[in-house]
Amino acid sequence: MTQQNSPINPQHNYDVLIIGSGGAGLSLALKLADKDFIRIGVLSKFALTEGSTFYAQGGISAVFDEQDSLESHIEDTLISGAGLCDPEIVRLTVSKGRQSIEWLRGQGVNFTEERTENGTRQLHLHREGGHSHRRIVHTADATGKAVSLSLIERAREHANIDLLENHNVVELITAKKLGESAQRIRGAYVLDTAVGNIKAIAAKIVVLATGGASKVYLYSTNPHISTGDGIAQAWRAGCRVGNMEFMQFHPTCLYHPSARSFLISEAVRGEGGRLILPDGSGFMQRYDERLELAPRDIVARAIDSEIKKHGIDCVYLDISHKTKDFIQQHFPTIYQQCLALDIDISKQPIPVVPAAHYTCGGIMTDSHARTDIPGLYAIGEVACTGLHGANRMASNSLLECLVFAERANEDIRRIIDTLPEPTALPPWDESQVSDSDEEVVIAHNWDELRRFMWDYVGIVRTNKRLSRAMRRLELLKEEIAEYYGSFRVTSDLLELRSLVTVAELIIRCAQQRKESRGLHYTRDYPETDDSRPPQNTVLTPDNYHP
Ligand code: FAD
Ligand code: SIN
Repeated sequence: MTQQNSPINPQHNYDVLIIGSGGAGLSLALKLADKDFIRIGVLSKFALTEGSTFYAQGGISAVFDEQDSLESHIEDTLISGAGLCDPEIVRLTVSKGRQSIEWLRGQGVNFTEERTENGTRQLHLHREGGHSHRRIVHTADATGKAVSLSLIERAREHANIDLLENHNVVELITAKKLGESAQRIRGAYVLDTAVGNIKAIAAKIVVLATGGASKVYLYSTNPHISTGDGIAQAWRAGCRVGNMEFMQFHPTCLYHPSARSFLISEAVRGEGGRLILPDGSGFMQRYDERLELAPRDIVARAIDSEIKKHGIDCVYLDISHKTKDFIQQHFPTIYQQCLALDIDISKQPIPVVPAAHYTCGGIMTDSHARTDIPGLYAIGEVACTGLHGANRMASNSLLECLVFAERANEDIRRIIDTLPEPTALPPWDESQVSDSDEEVVIAHNWDELRRFMWDYVGIVRTNKRLSRAMRRLELLKEEIAEYYGSFRVTSDLLELRSLVTVAELIIRCAQQRKESRGLHYTRDYPETDDSRPPQNTVLTPDNYHP
């Protein structure tokens, strides 16, 4: 049995270094673990559970219903993606739905079942926005917790997997950075936050599974770790990044001062939950014929528009027409969390607002999760695979984590034995820095950045707001670069540095898109440009070596 933080490999040389212990990272570790002699390190910035995966509610999309079909799941995904999905990637991912669910069941995940009329048991399926059938496999309303805990338990059973909590990656190490001519990944510098020192970890293969970047916004459904570190690190190392303008806002985050990031699952709307104004009247009929089950971009914009029009703090989601038994059975976590805040959702509507939820763009990868740097892979929310296009359809994300973990597994197994052993890396140089005497700069800049991103680069954008945000960002960039060059790194500084990079990538992508499409809506170009084929927004760093 491997203990956390007591590695089997004290030299910290791995065959495969996986950065991230969410659904994507742990799935890959488990898939690789039975390969002979392989040594795998899995890093987690805080506790192993602390990632978006653990908090996922609705579930995982896969075709199980007899009335449903792969073609229908593909079509719904393409429609949500507003013309920017890669159809081959969509087909590849959707066709692995059942297999991925069976693999998770094999790892011990118990999904909610129901009894059929003839007495047999089958998976219970939820419905969510954009899906034309019931197709969301779930564990009540806490699917991510069930997935995360099972995967962690299985990973602990493998002696060749080191699970390293409180290990925060500072920077990727590439051959070019070491002065070699042929580009390749070599490893990463990692801050051991429990001890406070920076280790150089060498590896044949490095996999970024660091999740999304929604913490760049003031209000978000995401846990603290979602600061876009992997995207920023890959960009600095020379990888292309794309579609960052498509930041997804979930329509229904609980509006309450004591529970700022708590999500009210889209499955509540799937079971008939209605969005209403304070006077009890519905409004979705004014926006889309699919009403509450329109794709997320449409529902989030509708709520934002009603909040601004009426000068109200929130709208309400009403599921009180369902019985208390039904609500407690299907949504036990949501029911309990709201009740703890004196909101009995079986009797009264839930106050909700949109909040930043998912990063549709990310590091450009191919169909085997390979990035632009040989040996560096990206899987899960950190990657831009082509599945989500301009707007991710609900519950397609965990599916993507599983499918691309398998794609990376296949490719890594194919090449790993041909790669040279990892070589010793130069230690982290701290000779020029001292301890900071101005931590307030970091706290202030965190707040400032997240607030102007919310105000200027949120659900509704304009050219003027984007320019304003960019001007403020330039100042922050300068301050943080100076701070990073002068003081010893801390986790807060590293995260702020990532957020600033990610914010710049979002703004630059948004400025390049001269139309509204999917999640990117700008008043200056309110229409979708159908005069030419839709294009991804791909940014190329100066140190890109094709
Ligand atoms: P995560 O699960 O976020 O894990 C990231 C990992 O990377 C963590 O272990 C973190 O510690 C580590 N990490 C990050 N930076 C560093 C660093 N610098 N150094 C070391 N480690 C680092 N999707 C669905 O499909 N269905 C749902 O029902 C659903 N519900 C959701 C509900 C909520 C509240 C949220 C926030 C998201 C939901 N999503 C859902 C989206 C989905 O959960 C995520 O997209 C998915 O779990 C991402 O998995 P991941 O493995 O890529 O990243
Ligand atoms: C939810 O349960 O509403 C979240 C689903 C998702 O983000 O895919």
